[in-house]
Amino acid sequence: MWNPDLYQKTLSFANHAHREQKLPGSNLPYVSHLCNVCMEAVHAVLQSGIEDIDLAMQCALLHDTIEDTELTYQDIETEFGTRVADGVLALTKNVALDKPKQMPDSLQRILQQPNEIRIVKMADRINNLSEPPHYWTKEKKMNYQLEARLILDTLGGVNSFIETRLAKRIEHYSQYINA
Ligand code: NI
Repeated sequence: MWNPDLYQKTLSFANHAHREQKLPGSNLPYVSHLCNVCMEAVHAVLQSGIEDIDLAMQCALLHDTIEDTELTYQDIETEFGTRVADGVLALTKNVALDKPKQMPDSLQRILQQPNEIRIVKMADRINNLSEPPHYWTKEKKMNYQLEARLILDTLGGVNSFIETRLAKRIEHYSQYINA
């Protein structure tokens, strides 16, 4: 079972942190991305029944806080504990590295985390493989699809339900590239 009070507390915390942020290429609030990633991750965990649903739910809602808001690892740790903060940190790109190294580096750190964090990363990419912002070039979309394959190849092997969802989304994304 999962804890609805914890969901509400975490959602409200994340929503507040991202309150100025919009979805790329739109005026919609960023929190809708967080809710979608959370839904994907929780749904996948419910299918297998083996992972910690609260850990997946919290890391999904908080996955972009360190990367995109003023919150730090310490803020997350103080509020939600070390496991959640470690998970969110692994999901955060290290901007001190060259751009092409940032995703592989994050994926390697995610591999050292519990399986729930791998599920959150795959859930994030499933949601991000929806229709891309109108200003993205064909090359950017192709690279994004390639990167999604790297995510699936690196993190797969833990939850077949979400891996099948991600594989289908990667395939479906070709229609945006060829549009
Ligand atoms: Ni995200």
